[in-house]
Amino acid sequence: MGNTPGREEMDLLSEEIRKCRRCPLWKEAINAVPGEGSVDAAVLFIGEAPGKREDQTGRPFVGRAGRLLDRLLRDIGLSRETVFIANIVKHRPPGNRDPREEEILSCSPYLERQIRIIRPEIIVTLGRHSMRFILSRLPVEFGRITDARGRVYAGVLFDVPVRVIPTFHPAAALYNPAYRAGLEEDFRTVQRELHDNNQEGR
Ligand code: URA
Repeated sequence: MGNTPGREEMDLLSEEIRKCRRCPLWKEAINAVPGEGSVDAAVLFIGEAPGKREDQTGRPFVGRAGRLLDRLLRDIGLSRETVFIANIVKHRPPGNRDPREEEILSCSPYLERQIRIIRPEIIVTLGRHSMRFILSRLPVEFGRITDARGRVYAGVLFDVPVRVIPTFHPAAALYNPAYRAGLEEDFRTVQRELHDNNQEGR
């Protein structure tokens, strides 16, 4: 697995992302956070942008929200090694502000290339920015995250047939424990969708 063409392509892409100067976010960041996991993953998780710990380490979801994500993955029999975890924006917005539309637009070609390399069966969007970015590229109607979460949206994204399952951002559950049950429920939907197609993370 370590030497597949997909792995090499992803490693080259990660190098390119580390050198990215397409928008000014790199200036205040310590590290770019390209994303990590299996290039053969059946499930791709997409967050918003790196936070402080991610900026320090260059790895996605390693802070408190990441620990919750690890637990949610484990509870449905998945791990960081069997899935791929990425963000829409690869450098940390200062002070963890929301990424701006122009930052999302200049960074998103990297995510598009990651999706084309991985060709995931299922994309789980974490939070409303990621949900909006992905679902608006499919011919589907969707509303607020409280309504869209846990639904399964099928379509073709960047030439890849996918099922998209939006859910809350794990950080939201840290601030508002009421979201925790929703996240757990949506992760069980991911598990069911995988099993219905006879796959265990691929
Ligand atoms: N929040 C995100 O959206 N992504 C990370 O990598 C960490 C926190």
